[in-house]
Amino acid sequence: MPTPVDLHNHLLPGVDDGARDETEGLAGLRALHAAGVRSLVTTPHVDASVLARPQTLDARLGELDLAWQRLGRVAVTVPEVELLRGAEIMLDLPVLNVDDARVRLAGGPYVLVEFPQPNVPPNTPAALHRIREGGAIPVVAHPERYEDVKREPRFARQWRDAGAYLQLNGGSLLGWYGKQARAAALALLREGAVDYVASDYHSRGQCPLAEYIEVLTALGGEEYASLLVAENPGRVIRGEPLLGVFPLPVRPALWRRVLALLR
Ligand SMILES: [Fe+2]
Repeated sequence: MPTPVDLHNHLLPGVDDGARDETEGLAGLRALHAAGVRSLVTTPHVDASVLARPQTLDARLGELDLAWQRLGRVAVTVPEVELLRGAEIMLDLPVLNVDDARVRLAGGPYVLVEFPQPNVPPNTPAALHRIREGGAIPVVAHPERYEDVKREPRFARQWRDAGAYLQLNGGSLLGWYGKQARAAALALLREGAVDYVASDYHSRGQCPLAEYIEVLTALGGEEYASLLVAENPGRVIRGEPLLGVFPLPVRPALWRRVLALLR
């Protein structure tokens, strides 16, 4: 099994719907460690509208700094895992200020973004294009969870055409967000439209990582799984270009095997 790098999780205590305190943050870290993770970027929720004004930006980043210190104090008991900072930015405005390195993935050029759910607002490709023009590289989190993408997975193609990458939630492959999200996730993988897969682990309950790596391996082999959970996420951390991911062959026997694994 590859050594996974996780670029989407909510381990910081008390700042969003993830870990409620240090105990849960540490439990989340330990669960990712147990699944083989040795490097991760933690991505608390931040709104683009908060980043747009100096006052709210300073206040939110101040909160996140304190939570980061709290997690750091308990994380010393898991020294094998490299902890890095990032954010999951809600594009509630079509403009994005990511000048501060603390809201970029590992402080590099990549930024994790999401849209208000469940339906995608208009003109999202233009917003992503503007982010790219501004010098940052947007990664759209869990495209398979939007109603528009569930209805028509090719809807997500316009985001890639606008210069964004796509990050799948591994739990979608396990049916955690329903059958439609799982079907959309598989359709995106089949098209080669997914650039990497992350846990979006909220520091509670079962950690999906080992299980979805097994599914990815069944779908495309070990090298394929490794590209999606280790190689490309590692490239994000290093600020390097991502490798292309090949479309999956449509082989009924393969899909039957994968579906059997998921049942
Ligand atoms: Fe998230």
